[in-house]
Amino acid sequence: CGIVGYIGKRESQGILIDGLRKLEYRGYDSAGIAVFTENGLEVRKSKGRLAVLEEKLGGEPLHGSVGIGHTRWATHGKPSDENSHPHTDNSHKFSVVHNGIIENYLDLKDELMAKGHKFVSETDTEVISHLVAEEYDGDIVKAVQRAVKRMRGAFALGVLTEFEPDRLVAVRFASPLVIGIGNGENFIGSDIPAILEHTRDVYILNDGEMAILKKNSVELMTIDGENISKEIFHVDWDLVTAEKAGFDHFMLKEIYEQPKAYRDTMMGRISEDGRKVVLKEIGMTLEQIQGIRKIQIVACGTAFHAGLVGKTVIESLARIPVETDVASEYRYRSPIITPDTLVIVVSQSGETADTLAALREAKRNGARVMAITNVVGSSVAREADDVIITQAGPEIAVASTKAYTSQLIAFYLLGLYLADKLETRDEKWIADVLTAMNQLPEQVESILDQAVVLKQVADSISKHSNLFFIGRGMDFAVAQEGSLKLKEISYIHSEAYAAGELKHGTLALIEDGIPVIALITQEELYEKTLSNIKEVKARGAHVLAVINAGHEGEVSKSVDEMFAIPRTLPLLAPALSVVPLQLIAYYASLALGHDVDKPRNLAKSVTVE
Ligand code: G6P
Repeated sequence: CGIVGYIGKRESQGILIDGLRKLEYRGYDSAGIAVFTENGLEVRKSKGRLAVLEEKLGGEPLHGSVGIGHTRWATHGKPSDENSHPHTDNSHKFSVVHNGIIENYLDLKDELMAKGHKFVSETDTEVISHLVAEEYDGDIVKAVQRAVKRMRGAFALGVLTEFEPDRLVAVRFASPLVIGIGNGENFIGSDIPAILEHTRDVYILNDGEMAILKKNSVELMTIDGENISKEIFHVDWDLVTAEKAGFDHFMLKEIYEQPKAYRDTMMGRISEDGRKVVLKEIGMTLEQIQGIRKIQIVACGTAFHAGLVGKTVIESLARIPVETDVASEYRYRSPIITPDTLVIVVSQSGETADTLAALREAKRNGARVMAITNVVGSSVAREADDVIITQAGPEIAVASTKAYTSQLIAFYLLGLYLADKLETRDEKWIADVLTAMNQLPEQVESILDQAVVLKQVADSISKHSNLFFIGRGMDFAVAQEGSLKLKEISYIHSEAYAAGELKHGTLALIEDGIPVIALITQEELYEKTLSNIKEVKARGAHVLAVINAGHEGEVSKSVDEMFAIPRTLPLLAPALSVVPLQLIAYYASLALGHDVDKPRNLAKSVTVE
């Protein structure tokens, strides 16, 4: 989502709309603005692209020099006029724009409803406007502080109240927010592009900080009300760099957003004591869950590769047999779909034609369909019976990274959820996995810190025209994704092979100097994979092994290079081991001078069969 806000001397509508246009690349399922006019706080919003809102405003512009605006990328509630921001309370005296997720919004909503608040949307954001109104006793800053303390989750907020039209309040808690400093005017923006046209001097808020903007001043404090001072950050990026938050490409930005995507996808889905997965979005009764005899996971491309990991996760955790199919094959192999089959479709966009067709085929045959998708309100999300939204945020690069890893997180959550319901694993075991999952974001960060090593690997790989990725079990699933990533953006041919299968043919292709990337993270397959590595080494391959930290000593003798990922449970290793492969693909594409974000012949979302 994108936030923009203005307080100053000029007409705000144009400034808000221009700011939103600069943020449209981040998500665009609806847009809205709230402006103080002579009639009070007025809101205009609509589903669809910004142009729809502009058309609405065309005939009847809102006049006033204080306002907030928002473009939405839905996280809760489908794209619709009602679910668009800004949200207001019942008195229409308070207005809020929000980025992020409020984890405990359902509890807060129940509480507010009991006090007589009426809700018009399905969003978590609307709860904030009611909560602020409830807490208000004459000071908007104090009301926001009290409201924020009741909220759990990640958020950036812009808040206005008609009672204090000379103040705009902004808060940051784990979702980015910047304050733009102007002359006789000040701005807020979720991203720098929103305000870059007007000022290059910004304060970057940290978590737990807030800003109170007036026309001629910006006051900074913590959410506890302690005043703070901050250095002004001078932005010297051009607009294109600013859109990528300073990264050279969207793909790199999205690779670096993975720790956040993991956290956001887990947020609100783990019980407070950390011992259970809570998936309120799944409407199946216990009886229905117990009745599942078979699961079919159907998807395309990278999402299919997430499904390969998903198969192992579900089979090992819930002991239900799982088949995987690429969606374009599924329908034509006359799959055996029975009413006790659960079909899980996986799709970042939720619009892939093959995946959608598979979903419809499954439903026609009486199966229950669950969707794992990144887009609320997408076709797949609308047509499935149960929907798990991966909270990766908009993904722009054609080569999928954070959407894939968020799909893995969704499968882990689902596997644990089923294991709990079916009692195939005990509570302690589940709690231990959840503890390990909570460490993944930081572990990914530690991999990202070593990007420079992977750049060197990629530079030497980019001189070859063929290579192999090998692994066993889950490592093989990740090898397939690593190989696809490399092919998509570097155009270097590679094959992913189950390490034990090499000797049945492909070994003939191993010749002197050929790079082999071997994944060896699955403890119980360790010895086996190591002997496959020796087979390729003996035939002259140059081997890079992705290993678990701590195994360097044993592996070093058998390989040429190593990259160690932090220790986690074998089941969770894919969520770490794929990250170095994404970076290798990225840097190889860069070394070869290709268009990283828009590879030739490929599209982000393929809506033809
Ligand atoms: C296209 C993209 C791939 C993606 C696949 C499935 O081919 O280029 O990166 O994995 O579609 O997309 P979906 O949106 O269904 O996950």
